[in-house]
Amino acid sequence: MNQNQTQQNLPDIKNKKIKIGNVEINSCISLAPMAGITDMPLRQLIRKFSKNSLLTTEMISSEMLLQNRPLEHEKITAHKENEYPLAFQISGHKPQIMAKAAKILENTGASIIDINMGCPVKKVVGGGDGSALMRTPSIASDIVKAVTDAVSIPVTVKFRLGYTAAEQNFLEFASLMQTSGASAMTIHCRTRAQMYSGTANWQALSEIKKEIHIPVFANGDILTPEDAKNCLEITKADGIAIGRGVLGSPDLIGRTEHYFSTGEILPEPDIFQKIQLLKEHIDSEIILRGEKTAIQFVRKFYPYYIKGIRDAAIYRGALVTEESYDKIIEILDTIVKKESALI
Ligand SMILES: Cc1cc2nc3c(=O)[nH]c(=O)nc-3n(C[C@H](O)[C@H](O)[C@H](O)COP(=O)(O)O)c2cc1C
Repeated sequence: MNQNQTQQNLPDIKNKKIKIGNVEINSCISLAPMAGITDMPLRQLIRKFSKNSLLTTEMISSEMLLQNRPLEHEKITAHKENEYPLAFQISGHKPQIMAKAAKILENTGASIIDINMGCPVKKVVGGGDGSALMRTPSIASDIVKAVTDAVSIPVTVKFRLGYTAAEQNFLEFASLMQTSGASAMTIHCRTRAQMYSGTANWQALSEIKKEIHIPVFANGDILTPEDAKNCLEITKADGIAIGRGVLGSPDLIGRTEHYFSTGEILPEPDIFQKIQLLKEHIDSEIILRGEKTAIQFVRKFYPYYIKGIRDAAIYRGALVTEESYDKIIEILDTIVKKESALI
């Protein structure tokens, strides 16, 4: 049996509460940060289904934040009261700059500051940020110390198994993050070299809770409530973080919480519900970004919402080239009409 298959006769996993520093979270499932994805409109959709999970902004470059480019950051930090508990993620490699950025974000309303030590992108690691910090653990430690000194909210870290297959230092790194003052950690079960390829190695984390007493969230390739259960069983982590699984399925975290609490697997939203969610997504992106920018911004989401329907490729092609809001709604209404006729 491979690790991602549903396993039988495993003890029930309850939807545990997790305490991150002084922040109590009534869910063991969190939203993993995703640049250009986990903005306020998407988080609002997730909140419709999951009232208590920890949500996270996309990463905010500490250096850019301090350069005072308010308009860009306002889009990333925009949030509503119902999104709490809400972590703001920062990236960078200069402890004092990270500390100043964290302070600004604490004042902007963050419940938690999360530090990005996992981003694999060349431009990011080239500057010493993201997963490059796994190769410079003393700098990573200085960052955590400087940020925890600067803010009064909990500080968490997100990293990978290591930089390459030969450098899987996540256990020592996790211990160092804990002693440096981190209040929780999320580990994407891949190396930097893997980027997003291959399968997340949940098994690698199975020993981590023998060493780490702060909450550990396991992350990578959780696409269904059953995956979530298997991942928790295998990693023995306190919680899980879900990223790409919420694309086109903003109910996934809520559905997984329901499964953990009741054992019942709810059906995924049907295409009619998905089109409704997509319309809400588009409308709130327009409120956040203005119509022209929002219409370009939401193009990345269409494939996920209409996946699996008949003629999906044709609709997708039409949607991603359309610039008029009214025409986009017309296409979505056509999908609804055609799909209704198929029932
Ligand atoms: C488009 C995209 C953007 C991402 N941006 C971030 C980010 O800003 N910060 C971060 O720590 N991880 C980022 N990640 C990584 C995710 O948080 C997560 O670790 C990874 O996708 C594996 O989890 P998943 O299989 O549930 O998606 C990003 C991933 C994707 C696909």
